[in-house]
Amino acid sequence: MHLAALLFVSALFVAAFALDNGVMRTPPMGWLAWERFRCDIDCEHDPKNCIRQNLFIDMADRLAEDGWRELGYVYVNIDDCWSSMERDEKGRLQPDPKRFPGGIPKLARYMHDRGLKLGIYGDMGTHTCGGYPGTPLDKITIDAQTFADWEVDMFKFDGCYSNATEQEQGYPLMSKALNATGRPIGYSCSWPAYQGGLPPKVNYTQLAKICNLWRNYGDIQDSWDSVLNIIDWFFENQDILIPVAGPGRWNDPDMLIVGDFGLSMDQSRAQMALWAIMAAPLFMSNDLRTISSGARRILQNKIAININQDPMGVQGRRIVKEKSGIEVFWRPLSNNASALVFFSRRSDMPYRYRTSLSRLNYTTGSYKIFDVFSEKTVTLKDSTDFVVSVNPSGVVMWYVSAPAELNLRQFYRGGKLQRSAYDDDENAIPRVFL
Ligand SMILES: *[C@@H]1O[C@H](CO)[C@@H](O)[C@H](O)[C@H]1NC(C)=O
Ligand SMILES: *[C@@H]1O[C@H](CO)[C@@H](O)[C@H](O)[C@H]1NC(C)=O
Ligand SMILES: *[C@@H]1O[C@H](CO)[C@@H](O)[C@H](O)[C@H]1NC(C)=O
Repeated sequence: MHLAALLFVSALFVAAFALDNGVMRTPPMGWLAWERFRCDIDCEHDPKNCIRQNLFIDMADRLAEDGWRELGYVYVNIDDCWSSMERDEKGRLQPDPKRFPGGIPKLARYMHDRGLKLGIYGDMGTHTCGGYPGTPLDKITIDAQTFADWEVDMFKFDGCYSNATEQEQGYPLMSKALNATGRPIGYSCSWPAYQGGLPPKVNYTQLAKICNLWRNYGDIQDSWDSVLNIIDWFFENQDILIPVAGPGRWNDPDMLIVGDFGLSMDQSRAQMALWAIMAAPLFMSNDLRTISSGARRILQNKIAININQDPMGVQGRRIVKEKSGIEVFWRPLSNNASALVFFSRRSDMPYRYRTSLSRLNYTTGSYKIFDVFSEKTVTLKDSTDFVVSVNPSGVVMWYVSAPAELNLRQFYRGGKLQRSAYDDDENAIPRVFL
C-alpha cells in the first residue's frame, strides 16, 4: 500500500476512537489554578492569591498581553474551591458569591472577549476533594447544562468521594450530558488516576471515546522529585499509553510547574521538553504576574510548543536507557520530521554522551537539526558520531528535519537544479555540541 493511503486509513482508524466534539485536536494549552493556588480561599489575608474572580482576570490579562495567547495558551481554568457550599433554589451549582461576585458567565465573557477560553471543575462524588458540593449521578444532567448555559469551554471531572462502580457510570454519563447540551466542551476525566492508571482496571479504548484528556496518575507537586516520578511512570508504561493518544484524546501527566519554586532552569527545560515528547496538555500552574524571564522563555519556546502541538498527534517514547543515566526520547512528527530529547539523570556534571543518528534508529540520510534551547543548527549524516553535553537533571532537545538524500546536494546554478557529491567528513564530530 502507498504511504499516503496508509496514512489515510490510519487517520480513519483514529477518528473512530476519539470523542467526536471537535475540540482539542492538538493538546490543549493554557493555565490552571490548582498546583500554584490550591484551595486558598482566605481573600481577607491573601487577596492576591486566593481563588476568586480577580485571580482568573489577572491571569487572563497576562495571557492576552504577554504573548502567551498567540502561542496557543488560551484556556484559563478554575479548579476546586470555586463554588458555594450550597446549590441554588433550582438545584444548580453556584459560585461563592463573595469571591465571584460577577458570576461565571461574566468571567466566561471576559475570556471570550480576549480570545481565551474558560475551564471549570467538578467532582463525580458526593463532594469535591476540597469538600465542596460534588456532582453525583443524579446531578450530572443539571450540572452539564449549567456549565453550557454559562458558556464554559472545558470541564475537569475529578473523582474524590466516589467509588469504582459510580465512576463507571458517571464518567460516560457526563460525556453524554455535555454532548446533549450542544456546546462543545473539552472534557477532562480524572477517572484513570483513581483506578491505578492501567488495564485491566482502566479501559483506555473507552476513555478515548468519552473524554478529550484524562489524568492517568497522581497530582504533580512543586518539586523535581514529583516531576521525575511522573516521567518515570509515563515512560515505564509507554507501550500501554502511546497507542491511546491522538487528536482529541490525550494522556495528561498534569500541570507544568515551570515558573514556580521547585525546579532549576535545567529541570524546567526537562519538564517542557518531555511534556512536548509526550504530546501532553500544557497547562501552566504558576503566577504569570511575577514569572521570571528565564521561566517565561522556556514556556514560550516556539519550537518546543510546535513539537508538542504537532498535528499528527503521535505520543513519543523513550528509546534508550543507558547505565550512565542518560536516556533518549523520540517523537515522530508530521512531514517526516522528529524530535529527540537527551536527558540526564546524573548529579555530577554535564555528561558528554556520544552516539549517532543511526544508533538511534534513523535511516540512511543527512539530517538538518535544530537545537531547541540553544537555537543552533547543524547537519548530521546518520552514520556520523556526535557528542551532546547534557547537564545534570537537564536535557538537550532537537528538532530533526526529514532526511535529505545522502551523497547528493541539490542547488541552483544559472536557474537550473544541479547535483553534486556531498562532501561531509564521515568522522567529523560537529563542534557545536562539544
Ligand atoms: C455530540 O456527539 C455527536 C455524535 O458523536 C457529534 O456528531 C456531535 O458533534 C457532538 N456534539 C457536541 C456538542 O459535542
Ligand atoms: C458505591 O457507592 C454506592 C452508593 O452511591 C453504593 O450503593 C455501592 O455499594 C458502592 N459500591 C462499592 C463497590 O463500594
Ligand atoms: C473497553 O471498552 C470498549 C469500548 O467501550 C469495549 O468495546 C470493550 O469491550 C472494553 N474492554 C473491556 C476489556 O472491557
